[in-house]
Amino acid sequence: QDELYEQGRHGHQPPYPITFAELEKKASAALPPKVWQYVAGGAGDEHTQRANCEAFQRWGLYPRMLVAPTERDMSIELCGTRLPSPVFMAPVGVIGVCAQDGHGDIAAARASARTGVPFFAGTLSSDPMEDVAPEAGDTPGFFQLYVPPDRELGASLVHRAEAAGYRGIAVTLDTWVTGWRPRDLAGSNYPQVPSGCLSSYTSDPVFRARLRPGDDPVETVVRTLPIFGGPFRWDDLDWLRSETDLPLMLKGICHPDDARRAKDHGADAIYCSNHGGRQANGGLTALECLPDVLEAADGLPVLFDSGVRTGADIIKALALGATAVGVGRPYCYGLALGGVDGIVHVLRSLLAEADLIMAVDGYPTRGDLTPRALRAVR
Ligand code: FNR
Repeated sequence: QDELYEQGRHGHQPPYPITFAELEKKASAALPPKVWQYVAGGAGDEHTQRANCEAFQRWGLYPRMLVAPTERDMSIELCGTRLPSPVFMAPVGVIGVCAQDGHGDIAAARASARTGVPFFAGTLSSDPMEDVAPEAGDTPGFFQLYVPPDRELGASLVHRAEAAGYRGIAVTLDTWVTGWRPRDLAGSNYPQVPSGCLSSYTSDPVFRARLRPGDDPVETVVRTLPIFGGPFRWDDLDWLRSETDLPLMLKGICHPDDARRAKDHGADAIYCSNHGGRQANGGLTALECLPDVLEAADGLPVLFDSGVRTGADIIKALALGATAVGVGRPYCYGLALGGVDGIVHVLRSLLAEADLIMAVDGYPTRGDLTPRALRAVR
C-alpha cells in the first residue's frame, strides 16, 4: 500500500482498479461477452453466488488497542509446505479464456512467482501441467484434479503432477456434472473450451497410447472424455489415495459429515467451497458452512474459497479458522485487464489490505486471528 499511496502523492493513478466493483466493471468491458458471462456467471438465479459475498458482512472484526504491531507475520504451513501468506489463487480451469494470448495458467504461475501466492494448475490448464509448473519459480504450486472415470488416465495425471513438482492435489468433487448456469444456457453462450486447455489430456501418455492412427487428439478428448471428470464416490477416493503420497485436498466439502468422512478416508486437507456459486444453488453460502466443517475436520487443515473480494474478507475467514483463503474471479479479472501485471496488482492489493487490517486492528500474527476477533452482526 505504501507504493500506491506514494504514487498518489506524485499525482499518478494506480494502473488498475483498487475496488472489486471497479475491477469487475472494467473486466466486463474488456472481455468478449461470451467469456464474460462464463466467468462472471453462476448457477440458477445466482442467489448463492451473491450470498457468498454478502455472508462476510454478517461478521465484524474487533479492533484491539495498545498492540500496534509494527511487524506482521502472515506465514503459514499447509500440508508440509511453508507459505509466506495464507492466500492462494483458486483453480480456474479454462482460465486461458481470460488471457489475451490464451496462456492463462502460465500467467497465474508467473504472478505466483512474483507474489509468493500459490496457484493451482487445473486439469484444464491452458498448457500441459509440466510447462506451467516451472513458471512459478520458487513459489510452490498445487494441481487441481478432475478425476476421469478412466482410472488409468486418472492415475497418469496424478503421477505426472508428482513428477512436475506440484506439492498437493485438490480433487474437485462438486463438478462431475455441470451446474444449471442460465447465462451459459441462454443463447448457446457456453464458450468453446480452447483446445490448449485440453493439453494436459492430449499430452498424456495413457491417452496418446489409445489414439488410433488418424485420430485428432483434441476431437478425441471432446468425444470420449467427460472433461470435467465423472462421478466420484467414497470408494474411488480410496483408490486415489493408493495412487499418490501427495497431500490430497478434497474440494467442495460443505457438510460436516462429509468433512468427518473425508478425514476417515485419509484426506490431508478439506477444501470448503461451493465453487463460487457456479454449481449448487441451494442458498447456503460457503462461509456459513465453514465453522461446522472446521469443527468436523478436527485439526485437518481447511482451505476456503467462494465470495472473497477484499482483504477484510480474508481476515474474517482466517479468524473463523480457515488455514488458507482462496480467490477465484478477482484474479481472473486482473488477468483480463493486465495479464501477469493485472493478477499481481489484484493479489498485492488483497494482501496489502489484509496486512493493514492486521496492523490497524492489532493482530500481529496469523495465530492472533481467532474467533474471539469476530462478532456476529445483523
Ligand atoms: C472456477 N472454479 C473451478 N474450480 C475447480 O476446482 N476447477 C475448475 O476447473 C474451476 N474452474 C473455474 C472457472 C471459472 C471461470 C471460475 C470463476 C471458477 C472454482 C474456483 O476454484 C473457486 O472455487 C471459485 O472461483 C471461488 O469463488 P469466487 O472467488 O470466484 O467467488
